[in-house]
Amino acid sequence: MKDAVLESKPILERFRLEGRVALVTGGGQGIGRAFCHALGEAGVAVAVVDLDAACAEAVAHELSQKGVDAIAVRSDVTDAEQVEQIIRTITGHWGQLTIGVNNAGIGNWADAEKVPRDNWRMVMSLNLDAVLFCAQSEAREMFKRKYGKIINTASMSAHIVNTPQRQVAYNTSKAEVIHMTRTLAAEWADRGIRVNSISPGYTRTMLVEKLIATPEGQKMTQVWMPLIPMKRIADVSDLQGAVVYLASEASDFMTGSDLLIAGGVLHAVGALGLLSASPSSRSLSDEPIEAALIDGVNRMRLHRYMTLPIIRNSIVGLAFLKIVEALRTFDLIYIMTRGGPGVATETIDLYAYNVGIAISDNISYGACISFLMMVITVVFSNFLCKVVSR
Ligand SMILES: NC(=O)c1ccc[n+]([C@@H]2O[C@H](COP(=O)([O-])OP(=O)(O)OC[C@H]3O[C@@H](n4cnc5c(N)ncnc54)[C@H](O)[C@@H]3O)[C@@H](O)[C@H]2O)c1
Repeated sequence: MKDAVLESKPILERFRLEGRVALVTGGGQGIGRAFCHALGEAGVAVAVVDLDAACAEAVAHELSQKGVDAIAVRSDVTDAEQVEQIIRTITGHWGQLTIGVNNAGIGNWADAEKVPRDNWRMVMSLNLDAVLFCAQSEAREMFKRKYGKIINTASMSAHIVNTPQRQVAYNTSKAEVIHMTRTLAAEWADRGIRVNSISPGYTRTMLVEKLIATPEGQKMTQVWMPLIPMKRIADVSDLQGAVVYLASEASDFMTGSDLLIAGGVLHAVGALGLLSASPSSRSLSDEPIEAALIDGVNRMRLHRYMTLPIIRNSIVGLAFLKIVEALRTFDLIYIMTRGGPGVATETIDLYAYNVGIAISDNISYGACISFLMMVITVVFSNFLCKVVSR
């Protein structure tokens, strides 16, 4: 039997990308620009493809300054004919294409029941249709050499339903990118083409930067942060290692996979429970929320977990939250509440998110009374413990 460890190239050699040629769509800014730089630094000749010619030119210029062989290609990737033209430009210039990074995408917020059709189509057209058009044209070129790497940018939103923003088109488009990635991987595996995706979590790009500068964005980040175990939004540089790995021979046995880079979001939840218990999902019954919460709590190994009822919309509710937070007796407390939404409710919700406490609706008065007794017991037993330890 061959000794794969001793006979393979040294690992860092396997990450080197000299002699490869890549295109990166949406390469003119944000995540795409970071991908262009990462690939260029690893030795790739890069075509920066973007709808915005000036941005593409600027990134190609930055790359040239670093000694990277780069060109800018202005193109609308939602148009299949223009995508074909990108491939002709690249093969005319370098004679080959080995790496295709299909990254251009847009987000859009709208309540599901109100999403206009043209809005839905616009998101699908760029986030999904264009990814297919690009992959098709790239693969047809790669088949000639029986080797190629296709990397699609999906999103954390393919895995979770973000909250509190509503984005049915975006979430759906990104979930489909992942399944399309798997499908293309299976179809093209025997022709040497690997197809994988990268799913970033919230990442600091112009798009997010502009949002978090607004009052609405400030409120959003307050909700997002407790759901990110690493307690920060990604920088585009956090994603660069993944694109080099997927482009290199180090990942040659990997196809149809998604690399989620989201600061631990899916492993929190708790996060799942908190997400489902958010103000945007009041219509859910308690059972799925609690099931998700228990699952998240187990995954996080938070053993001190309990479910409590509470009266919502009152100063008493906030006071209870303060008490359980101050006592730190439990890692996570799932609090059920009574009452409708309102400004006070939102305040309690936001506070609860920040201290890692989930809230849901519609619990009986009997349950509320048992909660009161529970709090009294906890406070009293803590007091007793302190007296005894003295
Ligand atoms: N920023 C995040 O938090 C985040 C999180 C998860 C996934 N993503 C995904 O990462 C990708 C890049 O996001 P970003 O934040 O860098 O976005 P961005 O808006 O900063 O950059 C997108 C780029 O795509 C270009 N573009 C738009 N329409 C195009 C078209 N029709 N043809 C060619 N180029 C076009 C834009 O000109 C722009 O340069 C997207 O697919 C996005 O959905 C972003």
